Amino acid sequence: MLFSSTPKATREELFDREEELSELEKLLNIYPIVVVTGLRRVGKSSLIRVYLNEHENYFMSIDVRKLYEMSFGNISSLHLTRLVGEELNKISKIEKLSSFLRKIRGISIHGSSVEIDAKQFELSDMFEKLEAFAAKNNKNFIVFFDEAQYLKFYGARGGEEIRMLLAYSYDNLPHVRFIFTGSEVGMLHDFLKFEDPDSPLYGRAMGFLTVKPFSFELSLEFLRKGFEELEEKIDFDLSEVVKQLDGIVGYLVLFGLKYMTMKNKDKALQEVFSTMSVLFEKELSEITKRSPRYMTVLKSIAIGINTWTGLKNVLHARGDFVSDSRLFSVLETLQKLSLVEKFQDRYRITDQVLERILRENRV
Ligand SMILES: Nc1ncnc2c1ncn2[C@@H]1O[C@H](COP(=O)(O)OP(=O)(O)OP(=O)(O)O)[C@@H](O)[C@H]1O
Ligand SMILES: [Mg+2]
Repeated sequence: MLFSSTPKATREELFDREEELSELEKLLNIYPIVVVTGLRRVGKSSLIRVYLNEHENYFMSIDVRKLYEMSFGNISSLHLTRLVGEELNKISKIEKLSSFLRKIRGISIHGSSVEIDAKQFELSDMFEKLEAFAAKNNKNFIVFFDEAQYLKFYGARGGEEIRMLLAYSYDNLPHVRFIFTGSEVGMLHDFLKFEDPDSPLYGRAMGFLTVKPFSFELSLEFLRKGFEELEEKIDFDLSEVVKQLDGIVGYLVLFGLKYMTMKNKDKALQEVFSTMSVLFEKELSEITKRSPRYMTVLKSIAIGINTWTGLKNVLHARGDFVSDSRLFSVLETLQKLSLVEKFQDRYRITDQVLERILRENRV
């Protein structure tokens, strides 16, 4: 069903995205690491899940945002090992694989369940065994890290251990391939550090794919199809909805779901904005805790005060005599979080829904 709130897992449920699916396949054949970025709710996780379920026999997926939350912001190897254990449990059902899994240090298999002794277990050893398995079967083993920018909270060195492991795998384990996604594009690049000569991943070529919002026409068709599936007759102009929500599929789905309970276009739209306000508030709470400047800058940009001088004047008028370097770093962080983008010396909010939420002071 198109209007469902969890990420899609099968081809039938996924609307469009043919091109992205074949591009992903192409990139994974070329590069050991593929980085998939795109705005929040644009459909990254769905795309990759469908790809993995349809095209790949052997993979594991780690939701790093979940890891970050369950570890309260300090991801340790124990946390990661626990999630890896859950994934190994799923794939241990593949008969051919289970004999390879037994060879991993710290792993024991009882019936169809996998137990990990975290003291003995090492990711590098696991990757080596998975490489041996994949090479023997002439396949790749894909490791998918969703919202991978949170890996910078792994260990005490900003995720350096993971970068070292990735570099080792990149150079030595050709059948183990990685997909990273991130909605905070700059943060993800900061974690991967492939342009930093001091980083283990420096100079390694990677594949990049950006998942874009649907075009206006496709968004209309998506809504039409979604309602058709539910046999719902629509008596209003769907283009009104797309104009307000843009082609971000997660918002369109939310609208569809709200409409089905409320049967009123305007109320359903309002509900989308209310739901998203709560989510954005949670998401922005971390930076606003760091400094109230972030919110002032975001709200100013949303109402059209979008130049460097304009923003500086707003802060000054509030008695905040911010230095140029501080303002620069505030804007830089907002861009790395993909909340703001710069276009010909002007800043703008990347997401139209967030822009309105900010403009209307809902966060
Ligand atoms: N191509 C698609 N066809 C139908 N529904 C989709 C498609 N892509 C995404 N969705 C739906 O949109 C919503 C958001 O999708 P998804 O979670 O995949 O996006 P995301 O970019 O990973 O979001 P987030 O930034 O929250 O991680 C979900 O309800 C999902 O079912
Ligand atoms: Mg996602």
